[in-house]
Amino acid sequence: MAKVYVFDHPLIQHKLTYIRQKETGTKEFRELVDEIATLMAFEATRDLPLSEIEIETPVCKTTSKVIEGKKLGVVPILRAGMGMVDGILKLIPAAKVGHIGLYRDPETLKPVEYYVKLPTDVEERDFIVVDPMLATGGSAIEAISALKKRKAKHIIFMCLIAAPEGLEALKDAHPDVDIYIAALDEKLNEKGYIVPGLGDAGDRLFGTK
Ligand code: PRP
Ligand code: URA
Repeated sequence: MAKVYVFDHPLIQHKLTYIRQKETGTKEFRELVDEIATLMAFEATRDLPLSEIEIETPVCKTTSKVIEGKKLGVVPILRAGMGMVDGILKLIPAAKVGHIGLYRDPETLKPVEYYVKLPTDVEERDFIVVDPMLATGGSAIEAISALKKRKAKHIIFMCLIAAPEGLEALKDAHPDVDIYIAALDEKLNEKGYIVPGLGDAGDRLFGTK
């Protein structure tokens, strides 16, 4: 069963308040999404396996821990997931980055796939799929299915804001995928937007409308 981790860290909650506000402009929005992604990545990597190596300090020989040579991949769901990539790479600079392009059809709210480019060694990597918004869950479910179709074995999903409807749908569709959420909001509105949410994440990140 999927583990669901909702962040209650004050730094994350504080920064989320500012990205929710409609007065927050593109530059500040982008900076805050980047910072929140870094803070979330810190927790989401808690279970990375460690091994011991022998080292020598100026005082003596000892053993000390290093992260095992596990291969990681970060996969943003285009467009808005792009805003979270650099924040994660600050902590995991050796990770490879794949891209999955999906947009929500405005009538049906179903995801439409338009681009998939992944590292060649998908089977050997652990993946973090990122998107600021989990609304109906359709985009996240489709992106994770696209990765699994290409033989990815271990995947976690990270988003800033989730609606309960999307969270339930994602848990049902991919019970093996752990989910990290900065805030779990109230509901979806009739247009499929998260309430209170932050509006259209892609438009706010890239200054489009
Ligand atoms: C937004 C968001 C997610 C999706 C969430 O993308 O970034 O990918 O909607 O909605 P869902 O859970 O109902 O699928 P959008 O389709 O607006 O595309 P964009 O990032 O290119 O703006
Ligand atoms: N996509 C967004 O960008 N925002 C929402 O509230 C829902 C889907």
